Amino acid sequence: MRIRDVALPSSSVSSRYIEMSGASADAESARLRGAWQDDDLPQKQRELVDLQLADYRGGAAIDVFDVMVEALRGLPKGEGRTSVLEVGCSSGFYSEVFDIAGLGVNYAGADYSDAFIALARQKYPALRFDVEDATALRYADDAFDVVISGCCLLHIPEYEAAVAETARVARRYAVFHRTPVVLDQPNRYFRKLAYGVETVEIHFNEPQFLELLRTSGLELLKTWTLSEGPAAVPTQAVRTYLCRVT
Ligand SMILES: C[S@@+](CC[C@H](N)C(=O)[O-])C[C@H]1O[C@@H](n2cnc3c(N)ncnc32)[C@H](O)[C@@H]1O
Repeated sequence: MRIRDVALPSSSVSSRYIEMSGASADAESARLRGAWQDDDLPQKQRELVDLQLADYRGGAAIDVFDVMVEALRGLPKGEGRTSVLEVGCSSGFYSEVFDIAGLGVNYAGADYSDAFIALARQKYPALRFDVEDATALRYADDAFDVVISGCCLLHIPEYEAAVAETARVARRYAVFHRTPVVLDQPNRYFRKLAYGVETVEIHFNEPQFLELLRTSGLELLKTWTLSEGPAAVPTQAVRTYLCRVT
């Protein structure tokens, strides 16, 4: 199953992309920054996620899950169980993905949405979930072995601060999952509907994004491409980046 089927079915999840530029991109991004805190989003997303989890449990290949599992499975073992924080965790469903895959990590999730975190706590009462903004995390430096930036940077106008915070709380590795990039043009800013809610989506100039990772103290180890090339959505590639904390 390809990412477009998982994350971007035009009718239900992401639709109506409208490009923004200049001052309107800044103003609209600021206006839509809190869009994912909408109370109706968690249930709508979860309905789709539950179908994907059932398929995954039955042995189906789901590329966004497979890439994330491969990224974590390939890491050298440290002392004890690896602690993993997912920032932008939604209802915490990657904890279930890791469980199904038998990864044996200690998972914790953070999201800026009260409603998503309430659902995560209800679904996975044994796990830790915190309401946290990706740009100002209240965790200590080096608090987790691995920090996953879970497909949230694209919704955060101050994404440089979110990358810096990911690097700060990660002790060994950072993963930037499902990052939309453009190759030969500046960052592009879109308004779109996600599950019927108006949100902002940034597509990052890839060379600049990789430079941001480097200057944030992260060394790129590996890249996975989830989709690439001319597509129904206005992006050139969606990639997952695995970095080592330097
Ligand atoms: C597209 S979902 C990603 C879900 C999952 N991590 C994945 O990879 O599929 C984006 C998530 O990022 C969260 N998010 C958006 N802006 C955020 C911010 N500033 N701080 C923390 N979480 C944020 C949203 O609430 C939402 O749950």
